[in-house]
Amino acid sequence: MTMNTSEIITIPPLAANAEEFNTGRWVTNDEGAILYSLVTLMQPDNCFECGTANGYSSLWLASALKEGVKVHTFDPVNRPKVWDEASFNVTTDNIVFHCEKFSDGIGGMLVTCNEGSNLFFIDGEHSQGGVILDIESIEPYLAKGDTLVFHDANDRSVIKAYLKLIARLNNPELFFFKTRRGIKVIRIGE
Ligand SMILES: C[S@@+](CC[C@H](N)C(=O)[O-])C[C@H]1O[C@@H](n2cnc3c(N)ncnc32)[C@H](O)[C@@H]1O
Repeated sequence: MTMNTSEIITIPPLAANAEEFNTGRWVTNDEGAILYSLVTLMQPDNCFECGTANGYSSLWLASALKEGVKVHTFDPVNRPKVWDEASFNVTTDNIVFHCEKFSDGIGGMLVTCNEGSNLFFIDGEHSQGGVILDIESIEPYLAKGDTLVFHDANDRSVIKAYLKLIARLNNPELFFFKTRRGIKVIRIGE
């Protein structure tokens, strides 16, 4: 992918006090800005997140989506969400929380709304088996132009699952971001 200077992305602050909602345990503000940039560049028609936690990363994804697109975010644990505790500069109307495991719910969603390009943010259970299960639940539906974004991609378990996937793909485009926890991106080719 090439970018020219007219495509430089301006990242809006989510809230003046966004730092308060960044627990430091999950996606950091820098990583949130990377998610925002990726969504802005890829312009997905559908967006899915595995691992909502308190919704901080959902907020970054949602804030960059084009009009009419929602982020469907999955987590079997229903924690308080950041948007229930504060008002942000961005809408949260385009965030749909699914209180279930990603692998249980995503297949059915993809069958009913698999028109256009998909962006998946994978940040759920980080064991190798957990990431493999998440990947396997979307792999049959992957098509050219879809994007997979892995968080905690410095973890050995995530790297192993990621490497197994790219060995099965034809001509994937790969991007890496050297953040505190690591972000790896796969764009599906032919
Ligand atoms: C690292 S946290 C997610 C952080 C969040 N993405 C953020 O940065 O704001 C991982 C979350 O994945 C959830 N989780 C664990 N197994 C899951 C599964 N099978 N499907 C979806 N979420 C899962 C956990 O409950 C936890 O809330």
